[in-house]
Amino acid sequence: MELFEKCRRFTAARKLMAAGYYAYFQPVASAQEPEVTVNGRRMIMAGSNNYLGLTTHPLVKEAACLAIERYGTGCGGSRFLNGTLDLHEELERKLARFKGREAALVFSTGFQTNLGILAALGGKGDLLVTDRWDHASIVDGCRLAFGETRRFHHNDMADLERALSESRGRGTLIAVDGVFSMEGDLANLPEIVRLARAYGARVMVDDAHATGVLGKGGRGTPEHFGVEQEVDLVMGTCSKALASIGGFVAGPAEVIHFLKHRARSLMFSASLPAPCVAAISAALDVIEAEPERRERLWENARLMKRELTAMGFDTGASETHIIPVILREDRLAFRFWKLLQQHGIFCNPAVSPAVPKGRALIRTSYMATHTPEHLERILTAFRKVGKRLGVL
Ligand SMILES: Cc1ncc(COP(=O)(O)O)c(C=O)c1O
Repeated sequence: MELFEKCRRFTAARKLMAAGYYAYFQPVASAQEPEVTVNGRRMIMAGSNNYLGLTTHPLVKEAACLAIERYGTGCGGSRFLNGTLDLHEELERKLARFKGREAALVFSTGFQTNLGILAALGGKGDLLVTDRWDHASIVDGCRLAFGETRRFHHNDMADLERALSESRGRGTLIAVDGVFSMEGDLANLPEIVRLARAYGARVMVDDAHATGVLGKGGRGTPEHFGVEQEVDLVMGTCSKALASIGGFVAGPAEVIHFLKHRARSLMFSASLPAPCVAAISAALDVIEAEPERRERLWENARLMKRELTAMGFDTGASETHIIPVILREDRLAFRFWKLLQQHGIFCNPAVSPAVPKGRALIRTSYMATHTPEHLERILTAFRKVGKRLGVL
């Protein structure tokens, strides 16, 4: 087949566009706030990962502007060569302290962080053990690694143990999302760390959706479960509660030192620009200074879970600010999404491969800055659309 033939044969997205059900790449012409402007219309945002609303916090914006004044807009190279700023190192010290670890390393995205960690640590002869619902960046990181990968059924601890029983003394890393990105449920960390110790494996938690949100101090799922000491590596992104873009890993100094010299997605890619680094650093300060934001987010999340479930929607095992409305069929998810749009609600439909086949859903996520009126408008729209499509 001629190389580009696959592009001509790829019709799935065009069919959705022609039918008016294409939900992706919608240009938002405003900040990621509870109300956004899309195609000239004001809509309620119920699909942003700006969980604490910090992308528009005055201190965060000011820090970014000041950093541009001093350092300019880009670093002109990778961390490894000319692109490490004093700001990166300051942020790494801050992140290590925040996560209670010896050291941390900042990458340019969370995706690159997972690629870098897994490909570097999962060497020949090693075993990487992952949950089937882990994020695509963990899946792809395992693909890049020379070691073997075993995937266990989602949060199925007997299946995890089966995978670990194959480790037979190999260097083994269990890598799981702390909060699963589509359904907002939590990894069973207490059991995972118990099995890890029993089989001599290390544990890495991807806390993309939990950093700044879960745990009393916002330190993430290990803090939430009281197992911080038992988790070896914590990875996170700066593109969600941390209000910018970027990723990091925090853990023992010797591992961070190794990753600095072996993580190819860090060494061979340009570093995070100063305004982003400064914004993340300021966001961390706000997270520590304003715990009430986290409390408001949890109030919003609990209310939405309670109300959506009481209406009769299947909201799965979500325990967090990410709440799915599980519809199962792709067509239904797209029809549901379109009607929500018509009611002025911005949400994201998720179909395979973002979710397992037969588990299509509308992913909703909440922010500390949603007011009771915003949430009421979202609930009213879900009730109307659910009735109209016969889901309720
Ligand atoms: C669980 C998880 N890990 C990693 C990433 C990648 O992070 P980033 O957007 O910073 O590349 C995401 C992004 O959605 C995620 O949900």
